[in-house]
Amino acid sequence: MDLKTLATERGVDVDKFYRGIGQEQMAVPAPDEDVVTLGANAAHGLATAGELEDVELLLFATESGIDQSKAAGVFVHRLLGLSERCRTVELKQACYSGTAAVQLAVQYVARHPEKKALVITADIARYELKSPGEATQGCGAAALIISANPRLLCLEEEAGFYTEDVMDFWRPNYRSEALVDGKYSTLVYIRALETCWKQYQALSGRSLSDVDFFCYHIPFTKMAEKAHRKLFRSVGASVSASEIEAALKDSLTYSRRLGNCYTASMYVGLASLLEQTNRDLTGKRIGLFSYGSGCVGEFFSGIVQPGYQSILHGAPHQEMLRDRTELSYQQYEDIFNYRVPTDGGVYIFPEYRTGPYRLKGINGHKREYESLVESDESSSAR
Ligand code: CAA
Repeated sequence: MDLKTLATERGVDVDKFYRGIGQEQMAVPAPDEDVVTLGANAAHGLATAGELEDVELLLFATESGIDQSKAAGVFVHRLLGLSERCRTVELKQACYSGTAAVQLAVQYVARHPEKKALVITADIARYELKSPGEATQGCGAAALIISANPRLLCLEEEAGFYTEDVMDFWRPNYRSEALVDGKYSTLVYIRALETCWKQYQALSGRSLSDVDFFCYHIPFTKMAEKAHRKLFRSVGASVSASEIEAALKDSLTYSRRLGNCYTASMYVGLASLLEQTNRDLTGKRIGLFSYGSGCVGEFFSGIVQPGYQSILHGAPHQEMLRDRTELSYQQYEDIFNYRVPTDGGVYIFPEYRTGPYRLKGINGHKREYESLVESDESSSAR
């Protein structure tokens, strides 16, 4: 949905959304999508390219899980046809857990260099209708292969990380919309960033000028720009608005059109940077700041590897953004208010054709997924 549609409905100047928070559109999941289908769809290309054969660890990071007990990754494991010799778990810490998954996977492949780990980050960001957070909703997923021989980004050893028990954003088990202390959350985000950077700087001996590009967690694109300015200020340096725009524009392009996708946001930003820039980034250092309310933050870095361009997915990603169906306000509100039936009955859901995998229905409280790319009955997960 274009945020001008929301602005009109809420009686707000559209520039508050377009310029003030830096968002133009929000991604809204169809009723036959959830984090399982988003995650499986993100990893589908890796499966068809034969990249998942040596995967023995599947870490699924999400804030918007679909079961209190069973890991969403177990459904995905079946849909993608992964080997039964695989450890599969779900990780939670708001928007941060994808980065915890990446770092755990790095340790795993350091010990088992012949094996790979698959990290999936997938989320649907929901705030109450008419709340200040509403315009920052969105959804999306990213799938990452972690291996001992990375072809895209080689992660460096040093990392600054930080935990503090705060209530800036949370979602009790009985709620489907997050609760948030919005202004406070932006302050804690900055505090975590500054602390993580100080640690990273002390451990690595690097200064901000040693980092060529920055990718931040992107709850809304203006937040990343504010974070960049504050980080430089915290070390006594200053950056102008045009310098900030030049430094971050490419990493924010996709998020401006997707909205927040919590665990996936920073990784969507990384894909956006690598795919949108017209420069060769080989050998460049990218600094990454991951933040999950509640809160945990981490600053780490990686070096872009030679030949990385050959494994980017710029064209299909552009196509995915272009092929979306624009929603009217009423369609958005209907989808927002839609809930998967909870009476234990048998339901088949209409097909929206948003990707290779979908939530086909629900039967006796069991979610049933199907693959639209294979006729093989065994690809349907019951
Ligand atoms: N033209 C241009 N700019 C305008 C404008 C107009 N007509 N009207 C307002 N603005 C500007 C304001 O000046 C303001 O700019 P500054 O921040 O630079 O001062 C900006 O638009 C936003 O306006 P408000 O501050 O009035 O917005 P708000 O209070 O209604 O909502 C918010 C902002 C609190 C961030 C809200 O969107 C929110 O709660 N979002 C969810 C929480 C969130 O994303 N927090 C981020 C940190 S936590 C995190 O990162 C984890 C996570 O993923 C949730």
